[in-house]
Amino acid sequence: ERGGYAHFMLKEIMEQPDVWGDCLLGRTEGDRVVVEELGLTETQLEQVRRIQVVAAGTAYHAGLIGKALIERLARIPVDVAVASEFRYQDPVLQRGTLVMAVSQSGETADTLACINLARQQGMPTYALVNTVGSTIARESDAVVYTHAGPEIAVASTKAYTTQILVLTLLALALADVHGRPRPDLVRSLLTLPKMGADILAEMEHIEDMASRLSTNRDVFYIGRGLDYALAMEGQLKIKEIAYIHAEAYAAGELKHGTLALIEDGTPIVAIVTEDSVAEKSISNILEVKARGAEVWAIVDDRLKTRVPVDHLIPIRVPNALLAPALAALPLQMLAYWTAVKCGQDVDQPRNLAKSVTVE
Ligand code: F6R
Repeated sequence: ERGGYAHFMLKEIMEQPDVWGDCLLGRTEGDRVVVEELGLTETQLEQVRRIQVVAAGTAYHAGLIGKALIERLARIPVDVAVASEFRYQDPVLQRGTLVMAVSQSGETADTLACINLARQQGMPTYALVNTVGSTIARESDAVVYTHAGPEIAVASTKAYTTQILVLTLLALALADVHGRPRPDLVRSLLTLPKMGADILAEMEHIEDMASRLSTNRDVFYIGRGLDYALAMEGQLKIKEIAYIHAEAYAAGELKHGTLALIEDGTPIVAIVTEDSVAEKSISNILEVKARGAEVWAIVDDRLKTRVPVDHLIPIRVPNALLAPALAALPLQMLAYWTAVKCGQDVDQPRNLAKSVTVE
């Protein structure tokens, strides 16, 4: 049932191009997003003034990507909260705010509690979930599914990237309704399954890179903007399956203290796909290199000659706003192979449950 793969996680990583196809199927028409496919009406989209995302773990990281996309494309402000914090912070919810839960299982207790809290305050609720008919899907006013199929490995992979795709569709639909259509991006979105397959076909070198990474006990993940949100997911993956301590840092924030920890051999995974801040990220990489850091870097192919690193993973992306799902692939592979090299039980990591239905 693992389809010839050593682990469910690897199978689920490799099936992402097909799963993305399923997720996008029927959700665009020409160069527009089919709004009804998102479980909302055009009028509802028009009325959205603000979005409050609530989620946990990987789903929270997808929410951060969604925030950047929705804000930049539709100019609608988005707040993203960790569900276990939000529910106890007596949150301020103003009229016009759509409260959106992001969840693979649709059963995470804290995320569900946030939806219930929002409903009690009379706020419209919206669920972006993978598991059809799950509690969060049933309790929310509207629902959109990721259609990733069952995710067996505890470490989330395909659920995460399909959450990103659905958030991209939502951002594009909101942008359209709010007078900022991006037909070019709608068309490019449909090329992602093929581009993802191409990236996954060129991943042989990553096993050796992971071997080297697996000898470390601490690693930094750095990036700016969307790449910082990706860094957060990258560090979670390596913690949860390889048991290597990792920390995501906004690249520009390093110099406010943390640079003190960068010394000869300090491992750093850098992500550089955001062209608007690439120069800045590259200069941050130069700063850590100057202190002796060993750098693994996932970079937009067009920038690869500019990034002086030890282990280069170039990827082709159609547009920086569509890069996150693609850049997630080598991040997942790096974590997977690092865990394998560390000899860990990749599919059943310690102290984690697939669905966290208790606080
Ligand atoms: C990480 C992981 C967890 C979940 C989190 C939320 O790989 O699986 O961090 O993302 O427990 O779960 P869902 O999405 O089911 O609400």
